[in-house]
Amino acid sequence: MSLLERDEAVRRLKAAMDSAAEGTGRFVVVEGPPGIGKTRLLGCARDLAEADGFDRLTATADDAEREIPWGIVRQLVERSVARVGAGERQAALAGPAGAALTAIEQAEAGGHDEGERMRTLHALWWAIADLVGDRPTLITIDDLQWADAPSLEFVGYLARRLSDLRIALVVGSRPARVEDGALAELTSGRLGDLLRPAPLSVAAVGELAPEHPPGAVAALHEASGGNPFLTQQLLAELAARGLAGDDPRTPEVISTLGPRSVSHALLARLTPQAHSVAAAAAVLGVRCDPMQAARLAEVDDPAAAVAELARAHVLVGTEFTHPVIREAVLTELLPTDRAELHARAAADLRRTGASAPRVAAHLVESPHRLDADGVRVLAEAGRTLLADGMGETAGRYLRLAFDAGIPEVRGELGEALLIAGRFAEARAELIAAAEADPTRAGTLLAQAATATMRLDGHQAAIAWLRATLETFPGDPLPMEARLGLFSAYVPDEFERSGRRLRRFAELPGTTTIERFLLALLAQRAYAEVWPAEKVRALVPRALGPDVMRLDGHEGAVTWGSALHALIMADGVAVAAREIDRARAAVLPDGSPMDYAIVGAVGTVLAWRVGDVRGCETEAAAGLTALDAADPGPLASALRSVLTRFAVLAAVERGDVPGARAYLRSHDDALTGPATVPANRVGHARAYLALAEDDAVTALEEALALGAAEAAAGADNPAVPWRAQAALAHLRQGDTRAARALAAEQHQRAMRWGAATDIGAALRVLAMVGGEHDRIDLLRQAHDILDESPCVLERVMVERDLGEALRVVGRRSDAREYLVSAAERATEIGAGRLRAAAVDALDRLGDRPRKLAMAGADALTASERRIAALAGAGRSNREIAQEIFVTPKTVENHLGRIYQKLGISSRRDLGAALHA
Ligand SMILES: Nc1ncnc2c1ncn2[C@@H]1O[C@H](COP(=O)(O)OP(=O)(O)OP(=O)(O)O)[C@@H](O)[C@H]1O
Ligand SMILES: [Mg+2]
Repeated sequence: MSLLERDEAVRRLKAAMDSAAEGTGRFVVVEGPPGIGKTRLLGCARDLAEADGFDRLTATADDAEREIPWGIVRQLVERSVARVGAGERQAALAGPAGAALTAIEQAEAGGHDEGERMRTLHALWWAIADLVGDRPTLITIDDLQWADAPSLEFVGYLARRLSDLRIALVVGSRPARVEDGALAELTSGRLGDLLRPAPLSVAAVGELAPEHPPGAVAALHEASGGNPFLTQQLLAELAARGLAGDDPRTPEVISTLGPRSVSHALLARLTPQAHSVAAAAAVLGVRCDPMQAARLAEVDDPAAAVAELARAHVLVGTEFTHPVIREAVLTELLPTDRAELHARAAADLRRTGASAPRVAAHLVESPHRLDADGVRVLAEAGRTLLADGMGETAGRYLRLAFDAGIPEVRGELGEALLIAGRFAEARAELIAAAEADPTRAGTLLAQAATATMRLDGHQAAIAWLRATLETFPGDPLPMEARLGLFSAYVPDEFERSGRRLRRFAELPGTTTIERFLLALLAQRAYAEVWPAEKVRALVPRALGPDVMRLDGHEGAVTWGSALHALIMADGVAVAAREIDRARAAVLPDGSPMDYAIVGAVGTVLAWRVGDVRGCETEAAAGLTALDAADPGPLASALRSVLTRFAVLAAVERGDVPGARAYLRSHDDALTGPATVPANRVGHARAYLALAEDDAVTALEEALALGAAEAAAGADNPAVPWRAQAALAHLRQGDTRAARALAAEQHQRAMRWGAATDIGAALRVLAMVGGEHDRIDLLRQAHDILDESPCVLERVMVERDLGEALRVVGRRSDAREYLVSAAERATEIGAGRLRAAAVDALDRLGDRPRKLAMAGADALTASERRIAALAGAGRSNREIAQEIFVTPKTVENHLGRIYQKLGISSRRDLGAALHA
């Protein structure tokens, strides 16, 4: 039958595919009520794709399988493997497809940790990108309203990351209810083109019923509401009743046939045998094995019944001719019969070795028939689903298993309820489970505290933890870790929590939870300005990527802040080793979020050692990774950290417009309330303002930052707002204010004791002080900076010292410092300082031999990173994987890089970069 009134929809599908063929992937949602023609349009897209030489991948969700994790993803991956010949299959499974399937399996075993899930999603994304390769590909997914939750999450992940893949992703879905969060988001049209097939016009209905006169057509249109499926059903019903098109009774009969009654009339004509096979098939799903259905129905002549269902257009092959017919069968079925069929289905599936979730989906529909074996299957399925983050269903299965006499699942039941967001029930179960199992009690009660926090807020959870810990006989550390973590959100608790955490300062750091506590303490130690020496002694015991991966992103944040404290305490060698270790750990299963976390810490480290060029390169790479990560509070915080240091580095490189651009895109992306990292971007704003001689803005920003730090209970001189404010006052001629703040900064720096901050503070004191002290103070700064890892601060002092010596006429001393400053500035990519030093040398009338700028300075930060990776021998694919773009993007970048460096291949990169 021809396709009516869908020209516009087909045009839009075609446009999406053309775009994909040209390299820009597109997402299209076809949404509408049952029978309106979604599946038909998806078929249309597949025909277009075939004509255009596209590869095609397809999957269909099934109402009966929505509790089976990763169903849709499995279909896509397995079918893509099946496409290749038997010989190639092994190779395909050794490659991305195999990796994707493994990622799914591991996710099942790996716990429902949020970070873990992001890694799985990203691994799957890569698998798809790889499977598709350079061939334009159409992926169709139908009946998305029935997709299992993890698959749905992946479809969302993919839909957001199509832009440089040659993929047209077209999904069909019935309208989502608001409470179907993920589905509602996908079908909202925000992520791509939304097609809503309209009901057919009277004229089109007329074409479907060419034998019928206008009166009958009008009645058909009225009764079907223009729904093509209903129109067909009505016509079939009229034919079955032997009513010819021109029969005068036809319009009258049509008006008595509602949407329900047509399908029911169709079923009513089946023999009892066929009817019961249809019922069994409906229980099995939209797709089913008809012979299995016949087995469940226990009919005498299965073959005859199945043949009859095919003749009656109820089944075609191994599926219902239309989902609506299955739904009609189900609504007719008595609840008791239905439960009976589910029980038989469960038994049958178990006999054939189906997975626990598959069997459990039927067991729960016949709870009164559960035997001991079935209860065990439910418990196993519940655990699997819990690991896949399907908390709601896992909770249902585990509740049944627990009630039916498996007490040891109670803790997991509590955990499932926790991720399902049912906090009150979760808390009750977790507490009860803790009473029953003293060995796990500490961990279970810590989770109960999380439930309390979600129910009643941080303060209440803190109070509950304190009270519970008073009398708790078991291992207190899991609860202490929660307490420390929650306290980090409540400024009023900082002091008390700091005191409490101090008790753990001597922990050896042998377990994850010990390391987590030590990391929390390090965060406080930095804020409270302990001696840097103590921080350097403490943090190494807190390190280890396991903390980073603890508990979703909480571990990552804590790991990052401990490392931040260590870096600011000048413990850079240990930090560098830890960052390398973490990077090696996150790269292979590369989730962009993990990458950005490590990148953010790497950026801080690069700045602290004064590697301006490396700092900006690293920051830009982190920001690119964040564009591929899902938005949220952690992404916001990381964006702020990366932006702050990218701006500082850009300013030092002498690229003010670049610095401004970083700030602009940061402010555009920023959502949610002000956080500590977001406030600290003020450091960069003040830095930029000082570089531009805008003392008013600099002062404003610096003082606002000071206030924000105080409000967050932090006052570490490594956030040098006092020094910045002092310099701003100086430029405005307020020397007294400048000196007071510079002296305070110096005091703080002395208390902290990190050479970098002391040297920097001395330099500012020298600048705001009188001329006769200046050289002396700068010399002190120079001496102490010998102990600091920060090349940049040393160069600044050398430049200032050279300039001060020039002013008093000590030309040869001046020249020595200025030449050294210019050379070192070139090494670290500090163009601004280099220019200032060269300028001073000019004024000295002693222009040095021309200092060559490195060839790499012609490149942007991300180009430099790609050039470095390519120069080190990585393939485009490897680079793409490392920086979260597609190989195509890498190719484009390399083209520009060659052009800028005046070379023609990657073989010349090494030489050009080190020119
Ligand atoms: N524009 C059209 N012109 C002619 N026939 C159509 C048109 N659209 C759909 N049909 C026919 O109507 C029937 C129902 O369409 P389809 O199966 O695509 O609906 P659907 O929207 O996928 O429904 P469901 O939500 O139940 O899956 C099919 O037989 C299909 O061929
Ligand atoms: Mg359909």
